[in-house]
Amino acid sequence: MTTAVLPFAPQPGGFEWLEGEPEFDPARHLQLEMPERVRTLDEFGYTTEEIARTATPVAVTSAFRVLSDEGAAVLLTVARRLEVFARANPRIERSVRSGCHRSKWFRDLCTSSDVTEHFGAIYGIDIAPHPITSQLGHLNYAPSELGSAVDKWHHDTLALDYVMMVADPALLDGGDFEYFVGTKAEVAALAERGERPSADRCVSVEWPGLGCAVAIHGNMVVHRGGPLSVAAERITMVNGYISTDVTRDDQTRHQDLFHVDDPRTLSAEWTRYAAWRAQHRLGRLIEDLPLDLDPSDAADRLSSAVADVTHTVKGLTEGLSRIHHYEL
Ligand SMILES: [Fe+2]
Repeated sequence: MTTAVLPFAPQPGGFEWLEGEPEFDPARHLQLEMPERVRTLDEFGYTTEEIARTATPVAVTSAFRVLSDEGAAVLLTVARRLEVFARANPRIERSVRSGCHRSKWFRDLCTSSDVTEHFGAIYGIDIAPHPITSQLGHLNYAPSELGSAVDKWHHDTLALDYVMMVADPALLDGGDFEYFVGTKAEVAALAERGERPSADRCVSVEWPGLGCAVAIHGNMVVHRGGPLSVAAERITMVNGYISTDVTRDDQTRHQDLFHVDDPRTLSAEWTRYAAWRAQHRLGRLIEDLPLDLDPSDAADRLSSAVADVTHTVKGLTEGLSRIHHYEL
């Protein structure tokens, strides 16, 4: 059974639980179905070497049902109650972070072992809910002005996630969830020239209804929430996972999160996650290390085992970096 790799971090100071919520009940609130279409990273132009370092060859799926009608109705209520906490950041005008520290129902959905196992089966790997709790249950709301993208062209700060329609997509004119069928390098080259991905290289996801989601290899597939043509309630939820295989790259761009999350909570949770990865990488090193090595080979292996720690120390001491996206 897939479980969290670390205990769910305690509720940070200043957060309070919503009152009067139903209890999360997988039997009543979930309706887990498989996607009809699964696209892979090689279709997007990534090389075998690039794919080998990542969590999974899966790129993105068609939309499929995750919540039952009853579960979708509860999520919409939770998202509406959390909207008062929406804030702006350099990429998204209105989003709520750390909702899993305000709604127990939401926390239990985002860390559900049934849902985790289901998405693990779609990705074809063993996964766990992201140990950094702000990477769970991110909520996006429609911007205040028509014509503004809900979320600019970007790749995610984490490897694996799903994007779920929380409000009814049938009521939307515009506000498409779009992804580019190509590599990050291609979009970066377009952005250098001040251009955006052309419509003929992009796919707009078709949504069967609210409570449906797409699984996405979020930091490899460039995507966005497009502008609405008519003002409407548009709410999406993004839930993050990690591969439990610590030999793969972490793929999480933690430093960008200082733009959107409480720095003290983020620093502690990032440190704990890096320590967990290093602990398991060092454990493998002890088990697998040949006891006849030249000095540079030994140094490389040790350096690789603690790479997450080195990276984290650097990120924590460097301070704020520019939040990454592909638009000026
Ligand atoms: Fe995203």
